[in-house]
Amino acid sequence: MDKYKNVTVMEHPLIQHKLTILRDKNTGVKEFRELVEELAMLMGYEVTRNLTVEETEVETPICKTRSKIIAGKKLGIVPILRAGLGMADGMLRLIPTAKVGHIGLYRNPDTLMPVEYYCKLPVDAAERDIIVLDPMLATGGSASAAISFLKDRGVKSIKLVNIIAAPEGIRTVTEAHPDVEIFVAAIDKKLNGHGYIVPGLGDAGDRLYGTK
Ligand code: PRP
Ligand code: URA
Repeated sequence: MDKYKNVTVMEHPLIQHKLTILRDKNTGVKEFRELVEELAMLMGYEVTRNLTVEETEVETPICKTRSKIIAGKKLGIVPILRAGLGMADGMLRLIPTAKVGHIGLYRNPDTLMPVEYYCKLPVDAAERDIIVLDPMLATGGSASAAISFLKDRGVKSIKLVNIIAAPEGIRTVTEAHPDVEIFVAAIDKKLNGHGYIVPGLGDAGDRLYGTK
């Protein structure tokens, strides 16, 4: 979608189908959690499309040959707690050797400003390509703050993966962090007066963990 130049919208039918079930208010906790994990894995396929590869030698049962392996910098994934955690295992299924950092943020319900309560990153985070995970990009405050934490700790290569984004959140992140590529399954219409994405899917953390 050209309108947002740092944003890739993943139109793959499997992603769009699973997203529709995820949005449905009648989808229960177990299925919701499974879908978030599956979506993260499918989205991870696209997010890792441009990883550099190099040739190596491998011996098949028939003969020796040259074949490609992933080269270059190591990967890290950083879910934003809580809801981003629901995407971590899906992404790890594709890239099992990635190190995992955690950033704990919640939105103050009155101000909608992000509040940090936890941050633990791999010691060599600065040398890794980091993929930040959060199902929802609403005002963009949480993602923008998480990206700033990472940059403060020396991380230079950051991608952001959200299942649903609001135009407001995309604007906030791209203005603050024009170097960060954003990958989403959908860009929805707007935020409502409580900062929820419309039509969205409701509160991702609550639906993942059954807390409401
Ligand atoms: C949700 C979501 C994002 C944030 C998005 O988390 O998972 O982190 O809101 O909103 P923003 O773009 O306006 O910052 P929430 O604060 O509900 O915390 P939770 O994941 O612990 O439920
Ligand atoms: N956080 C959510 O979980 N859902 C929204 O719609 C907005 C922020």
